Amino acid sequence: MKILVTGAAGFIGSNFVRYMLSRYKDVYVVSFDALTYAGNLENLAEFEGDPRHQFVKGDIANPEDVENVCREHKFDAVVNFAAESHVDRSIHLGVYPFIRTNVQGVQVLLETSRKYNIRRFVQISTDEVYGSLGEEGLFYEQSPLAPNNPYSATKAGADFLVRASFRCYGQDVVITRCSNNFGPYQFPEKLIPLTITNALENKPVPVYGDGMHMRDWIYVTDHCSAIDLVLRKAPAGSVYNIGGVHDIPNIEVVRKILRFMGKPESLIRHIEDRPGHDRRYAMDSSKITKELGWKMSYSFEEALQTTIKWYTENTKWWQRIKSGEYVSYYEKVYSARLKQKYP
Ligand code: NAD
Ligand code: TYD
Repeated sequence: MKILVTGAAGFIGSNFVRYMLSRYKDVYVVSFDALTYAGNLENLAEFEGDPRHQFVKGDIANPEDVENVCREHKFDAVVNFAAESHVDRSIHLGVYPFIRTNVQGVQVLLETSRKYNIRRFVQISTDEVYGSLGEEGLFYEQSPLAPNNPYSATKAGADFLVRASFRCYGQDVVITRCSNNFGPYQFPEKLIPLTITNALENKPVPVYGDGMHMRDWIYVTDHCSAIDLVLRKAPAGSVYNIGGVHDIPNIEVVRKILRFMGKPESLIRHIEDRPGHDRRYAMDSSKITKELGWKMSYSFEEALQTTIKWYTENTKWWQRIKSGEYVSYYEKVYSARLKQKYP
């Protein structure tokens, strides 16, 4: 099977490439990525010289870039991870790059996949398209889409375009909606790697609002195994939720990390809340479990320890990121809030 993996130099994309190439001898991957601030060729460095892997730099929102790669290779499938993926950036730095990549880019990929008769298209979506839950309940595949921030609004827009391609053209598309991932190679702007790397540097760890917001946490390898099943077995036009462990408040996640690392809770700083902050996500994953036989292999605690170990052993990887363009973002989003609350 020959797969076009878009967004492959990012966090989940690079883990998916690793998962597929280590699991299957007959899989060939073209990793396609625009190398934005979040894309990093170091994430794919171990595949250099591998005859089953090739990297192509390109933008999914640029039809010419996508045409060129699809003309050159005869792909069996596209798995689309490419996205602007950070909620805070979509709120504080502007939504237009999100609309371009997450909506327009998906449409370019859908149209080009049809043009080149690529059999299967997998869109990597998110639980955030469902909006927020109250204290009880779960998100189901049939739950209404009710996104609450610019990022999730663009991801929901993409889901509707994918659905329309199935309904109007009979395109073989599948959507996965996964909960919050964590693991090696995650950009240190997201809660878990930010907490670990700040703690390693003995820097304050920002917690938004009261810290009682809840996410559904999944180790990235469990997400990859679910995508693999969906890619090979899911019926055309289907949607699958993929979830992990839910109902742990953010403050508990942060405390657990600090405890595992032997760092003091005095590093925690409650700062101003994120606007439009979804209170609780929790996924029902029974459909993928029953229909495709997926199950989680990693416990939250075990995966958290593995993740802490990875960031502890790969300081060069994240220190280079944190001393680059990231600094101006951090200044803009956190420093003002920290100074305001903790002068
Ligand atoms: P990431 O930000 O780490 O990686 C995104 C990658 O896409 C980067 O390598 C970037 O260079 C690339 N990219 C951005 N714009 C592009 C463009 N126009 N053309 C080509 N490449 C482009 O994100 P991630 O956390 O790995 O997320 C991957 C996908 O999974 C996203 O679609 C995201 O919405 C979805 N998702 C993420 C999570 C999570 O917790 N991280 C959960 C559910 C779903
Ligand atoms: P994040 O990792 O940005 O993922 P998402 O917004 O896609 O869920 O945030 C996870 C949760 O952690 C979310 O409730 C916001 C919160 N959060 C903090 O409290 N502090 C932080 O520094 C960050 C980045 C997030």
